[in-house]
Amino acid sequence: MTENILQISSLEKHYPARSGKDVPVLRELDLSLSPGDFVALRGPSGCGKTTLLLCAGALLRPTAGSVLIDASNPYALSAAARSAFRAAHVGFVFQNFHLVPYLSVLDNIMLCGLAAAPQPTLPTRAIDMLDKLGLSHRLHHRPAELSTGEQQRVALVRALAGGANLILADEPTGNLDAANSRILLDTLANFASEGGAVLMVTHEPSASDRAFTRLDMRDGCLHSC
Ligand SMILES: Nc1ncnc2c1ncn2[C@@H]1O[C@H](COP(=O)(O)OP(=O)(O)O)[C@@H](O)[C@H]1O
Ligand SMILES: [Mg+2]
Repeated sequence: MTENILQISSLEKHYPARSGKDVPVLRELDLSLSPGDFVALRGPSGCGKTTLLLCAGALLRPTAGSVLIDASNPYALSAAARSAFRAAHVGFVFQNFHLVPYLSVLDNIMLCGLAAAPQPTLPTRAIDMLDKLGLSHRLHHRPAELSTGEQQRVALVRALAGGANLILADEPTGNLDAANSRILLDTLANFASEGGAVLMVTHEPSASDRAFTRLDMRDGCLHSC
């Protein structure tokens, strides 16, 4: 049996409300991703999609339930060990890229290796990926010198170059034109086809159509469609 890359069981997440009563956002949510999965997650604004990605990516401790990434529970680790675990196992891609403005393209990508174990092959792999995405002439540029599409490709290389086999993407095509969306979606699909797993939040039909499966979030849990 193939091991799941992500295994979420009975996940609950509540946020404290001003009234003092907790607001449940995720309820009894189950999700598993295996190598080769590329899942599009849809749902109305405010339903808990980002909350799910953060819990799934070891960034936000669930109220209850379990999250296993590559068969390990990141929330059982100390904060420092969890950061290192995250850097080695999970890549994030956000709508707004989250690049560090005063670092070059290459240094932004090398950042992902800082918290993980030293990876001597990281620069070569990163340069190779940047080349494949048409960015080899941009290695020493700052994010502000790049187009929006180029910035998102840098963020994508940062997510992939650390060797993670789980990519969590939150509306990654939200700021991209059609041509750049296609490059990003092709890269995510290839990553999954080569044995990774992708969970992508999106509102765009052209993006969810490119995923291999689609799930809707409603009432704090997931429904297949
Ligand atoms: N840190 C927080 N504290 C309190 N409430 C939050 C917090 N983060 C998100 N929420 C609430 O949780 C709900 C789900 O938010 P979110 O996961 O961002 O939804 P989505 O990504 O689907 O738009 C929303 O009602 C939001 O206001
Ligand atoms: Mg969101």
